Amino acid sequence: MKRRTVLGSTAAAMTGIAFGTGEVKSAPNRSGRPGAYADKTVLITGATSGIGRAAAVAFAGQGAKVGFCGRRERLGMQTEREIRRAGGEATYIRADVRRPDQVRSFVDRVVETYGGLDVALNNAGIQKPFTDLHEVTVEERDDVVSTNTRGVFLALKYEIPHMRRLGGGVILVTGSTNQWATRTGLGSYTASKNGLTGLVQAAALENAGHGIRVVALSPGMTDTPMLDVHRPAGLSDAQWDQMKAQFAQEGVPAFRRMAGPEEMAAAALALASSSFSFQTGSCVPVDGGQLAAL
Ligand SMILES: NC(=O)c1ccc[n+]([C@@H]2O[C@H](COP(=O)([O-])OP(=O)(O)OC[C@H]3O[C@@H](n4cnc5c(N)ncnc54)[C@H](OP(=O)(O)O)[C@@H]3O)[C@@H](O)[C@H]2O)c1
Repeated sequence: MKRRTVLGSTAAAMTGIAFGTGEVKSAPNRSGRPGAYADKTVLITGATSGIGRAAAVAFAGQGAKVGFCGRRERLGMQTEREIRRAGGEATYIRADVRRPDQVRSFVDRVVETYGGLDVALNNAGIQKPFTDLHEVTVEERDDVVSTNTRGVFLALKYEIPHMRRLGGGVILVTGSTNQWATRTGLGSYTASKNGLTGLVQAAALENAGHGIRVVALSPGMTDTPMLDVHRPAGLSDAQWDQMKAQFAQEGVPAFRRMAGPEEMAAAALALASSSFSFQTGSCVPVDGGQLAAL
């Protein structure tokens, strides 16, 4: 079976899910059926490409009003246009998650624009080319931690007061299998993702009494533009595809392929739903068996 077919049926299976802790309202989505996230406001950091973009499309496809950020304006506007053209609702707001003022104003603007905040997916992240720790520059390390850990802290800091005031919600954080294990050359990234475990645990305990669940979705290898930092210079697209296939053969011994970003998006929709109403403070690997093989 082709992967696209598998993804299509996964997306179709999502139609029946109910949202987090709230009541599901019936409103038509683009397919004319009630969407599982109809009338819900979903905020996503880093949705100009990859997993975040796929999640923006998937939540909007289920009726959500999606406010999302990222730094690349052209891609942000393109994603917004595509969602609207398909009958969904989305607003791109340029924001850099390393900048407290921009994160705060992004979160506030999403809440003002759509009048709520039901789900937040704190997803923005970066990787740098594989480099042994002693050769990583201080600037590179700081950039990774500022984006991947501090950026999530800032998002939590500005999202939580809104969710408390509004009576609850679900906060997802995009972690990584690197929360559990690393590989050579990925020390800064691994440390930045390890740090998310503590943030998720603390935020979950502090906010459970306010109807807020906090969970990390921790992807294994996923075929997104983030991997392009590892692309050797001069490689053709076909050669790069072949090299990524080789990564997957070795790194994901069960499925021997990377995930598609749509599969992570489907997992995000599920984790934010009431099917996972007892899930908080935990990090959930979605990794095709990658960790099982360690
Ligand atoms: N792909 C994988 O194998 C994999 C595995 C485990 C975990 N993850 C995690 O999944 C998340 C999404 O990554 P992806 O794989 O989908 O890669 P991607 O396509 O490169 O997406 C990363 C997103 O983060 C945004 N971003 C990066 N720095 C930002 C900043 N300073 N401010 C605002 N937005 C920023 C990017 O937007 P702009 O560049 O436009 O700012 C982009 O939208 C990351 O947290 C990553 O660590 C990925």
